[in-house]
Amino acid sequence: MACELDPLLWRSWENLPEQLRTGTTAFDLAHGSAFFDWHAQDEAAQKRFDDQMNGASKGIGAVVVDKLAFARGTRIMDVGGGNGSFLAQILDRNAETTGTLFELPRGVEDHDPLFERMRSNGRATTQNGSFFEHVPGGADVYLFSRVFHDFDDEAAITILQNTSQSLSGKERLYLIDMMTSAAAADARGSSQDIFMMTQLGGRERTAEEFTELLAKAGFETFSITPTASPVSILEFRLAG
Ligand SMILES: C[S@@+](CC[C@H](N)C(=O)[O-])C[C@H]1O[C@@H](n2cnc3c(N)ncnc32)[C@H](O)[C@@H]1O
Repeated sequence: MACELDPLLWRSWENLPEQLRTGTTAFDLAHGSAFFDWHAQDEAAQKRFDDQMNGASKGIGAVVVDKLAFARGTRIMDVGGGNGSFLAQILDRNAETTGTLFELPRGVEDHDPLFERMRSNGRATTQNGSFFEHVPGGADVYLFSRVFHDFDDEAAITILQNTSQSLSGKERLYLIDMMTSAAAADARGSSQDIFMMTQLGGRERTAEEFTELLAKAGFETFSITPTASPVSILEFRLAG
């Protein structure tokens, strides 16, 4: 089922006028706690959300993975990587790379089968924690797939600053996210933007907005690659 049709999520919409008045996210007003906190205490809802993300990341992954080539030996950190399906696809396509899935702790860990195979072959590991506390160091490449549209600029900068504190300067940071264009406030782009706002207080961003946001946290933009899927791949490095 598409995320948008989940009753838990569409019930938030009733609180949109209140969100506009008070600034509190509609989901929090409807359900009494923030999106990821709420999901963490409801196993069935968490599983439903992971399945929704997994469905999308399988489709997106197939397109994005083709455009991400990493040398043998590269250590990859997938931050907020869900059930590991995207990381597993990356590892599968890039021989002799290894990866770590960094995620919030969950009551029940239910990883993608390919991820579990990678883990038993010693190519994948997991680390639990919150990127609002810290982001682990020790990787060459940091991936954030569809994480930043969950958050407003202030929260996004906290995540980026926590990331930069763990970097030495040589690492590459990839954001895989839907990009809006300032000109194309089309129906799909703007409905997705409002959807992210009502559920998470998040937002979609243009390429310029991403570049500006990352610059505030000390990163320079290296490349922006559109794909045949709704997401683009944005590459950053710590500014020299
Ligand atoms: C929109 S989902 C994207 C999942 C996956 N990267 C993908 O592309 O399918 C955002 C992910 O960020 C994780 N997340 C949210 N808050 C987090 C936090 N504070 N620390 C670590 N992960 C977090 C969620 O649990 C969720 O799996």
